[in-house]
Amino acid sequence: MRERLEALKEEALAELSQVSDAGQLNDLRVKYLGKKGALTEILRGMGSLSAEERPVIGQVGNEVRGAIEAVITSKQEEFQRLETERRLAAEKVDVTLPGRPLKQGAVHPLNRVIQDMEDIFIGMGYQIAEGPEVETDYFNFEALNLPKNHPARDMQDSFYVTEDLLMRTHTSPVQARTMKSKEGEVPIKVICPGKVYRRDDDDATHSFQFHQIEGLVVGRHIRMSDLKGTLLQFVREMFGPQTQIRLRPSFFPFTEPSVEVDVTCMKCGGDGCRVCKNTGWLEILGGGMVHPRVLKMGGYDPEEYSGFAFGMGVERIAMLKYGVDDIRHFYYNDMRFLQQFARN
Ligand code: DAH
Repeated sequence: MRERLEALKEEALAELSQVSDAGQLNDLRVKYLGKKGALTEILRGMGSLSAEERPVIGQVGNEVRGAIEAVITSKQEEFQRLETERRLAAEKVDVTLPGRPLKQGAVHPLNRVIQDMEDIFIGMGYQIAEGPEVETDYFNFEALNLPKNHPARDMQDSFYVTEDLLMRTHTSPVQARTMKSKEGEVPIKVICPGKVYRRDDDDATHSFQFHQIEGLVVGRHIRMSDLKGTLLQFVREMFGPQTQIRLRPSFFPFTEPSVEVDVTCMKCGGDGCRVCKNTGWLEILGGGMVHPRVLKMGGYDPEEYSGFAFGMGVERIAMLKYGVDDIRHFYYNDMRFLQQFARN
């Protein structure tokens, strides 16, 4: 039996020296050391041995098992080491490679200007109001002192949806809506940013759809000087502290008196250049004192309350601020244009 055990050991070690992967190694473990393996098979014959022989052979059996196990364990460790080395080599990372930059989006210049304007007016205690883009004839015109067949309706060619509904031609209807919803409460201090629509042919300075920001203040003792001071503060925050404004008399049906407001040219500082057509001034908005009839239709007694209002084109402000010479750049979505507005 001893010889059979020794022979088994030789055979096992010889075979183990040939294995080349973990799978084969496991097969050999089963073959020699498994429950139904060769070693168990031989040791099963121990029953027929004498009492003196049994412990001796038992010890030989243990030695053989130990020797085979030792080789299997060391082979296993070797395979594991090789596998780890292989994976390390395969998954090698060059930590000195520069990272791949993430593409970062930019706020659209129109949204940026709207955000900046909102910040400025919120800083002066204003709230943001919004209204629908599909508007009733009443709010878009009538409540702003533009009755049906009023010639000034022609100032703004409109897209009508039905006889009574149209795409709003300006953000001024939000004035009327705000007064109505405030139900006589004062003060009102709102700005209303949003899209507006006009039946215009698109060119470098016109678009059938663009953006405006409206402003409305209603309270007691609101005066033209309040409008002037507010606008001066606004343009200085928007275009720089050296900016000046001038008010020119004008006409809008919803304000009386009405003004058009110019700022000193931000390109030349007022000296005269190509941008301001050598006048030193750029027109940026319309405004005035809210017309008594508009106050009355909004539910405010013009004997007791007064207010000012203004409205401006966001694209125009953005074009002036960033030196953009064609309004269509804002809508083409050319990455080379938009990328320039990324904050870095
Ligand atoms: N709604 C006018 C327009 O679209 C702009 C405007 C002028 C708004 C005077 C006002 C204002 O609130 O008082 O041309």
